[in-house]
Amino acid sequence: MKEVLLLFVAYLLGSLQSGVWIGQLFYKKDIRDFGSGNTGTTNTFRVLGKKAGIIVLFMDILKGTLATSLPLLFHLGLNPLWFGVAAILGHTFPIFGHFKGGKAVATSAGMLLAYSPPFFIYSASIFVIMLFLSSMVSLASMVSAVIITISTVVIPLIFPSILAYQDWLLTSLAVAISIFIIYRHRDNIKRIKDGTESHVPFGLNKRK
Ligand code: G3P
Repeated sequence: MKEVLLLFVAYLLGSLQSGVWIGQLFYKKDIRDFGSGNTGTTNTFRVLGKKAGIIVLFMDILKGTLATSLPLLFHLGLNPLWFGVAAILGHTFPIFGHFKGGKAVATSAGMLLAYSPPFFIYSASIFVIMLFLSSMVSLASMVSAVIITISTVVIPLIFPSILAYQDWLLTSLAVAISIFIIYRHRDNIKRIKDGTESHVPFGLNKRK
């Protein structure tokens, strides 16, 4: 019973729409009406600027981390990753936002941070490299999700100091979350194919 209640708390944490609320409160702008229309970090950077973007990135990661830490804080037996999944579902289908939310990237990163800080740093580095190579957050997110999923199998074999042992639940969830992330980026995929996807102003493929 306690588990079910705290899974719902994790979902509620994930439902916190920091990008939308910061925009409405401090910038009198609803980020859902601008840019890609997404509620996440990238669109916050795009529409509201660096300061808001950094705060939302921090908050979107933090809610995944907090949610995943709930079983530890409340001494529950259920695997912490399930609480991370609940937060990811809250982020993408928020109860506070007509169930229309983000694309699961930053909150999934938050789940990894709670699960294994060294693996989070490794995963964040993969994302930064992919972002530098592509100059597109969407493409970097999707490719990183796939690389990170493969890494959950490979890294324990070659760098156990980063990820100590093979965790098949982590790998299975990483497969499911990667497929979900790619599905959530289907509009971005169309734009990448059309050559109309927005680029960040740095990296090898930045817009001239
Ligand atoms: O995390 C979302 C990002 O990968 C893409 O966001 O706003 O460009 O669709 P956006």
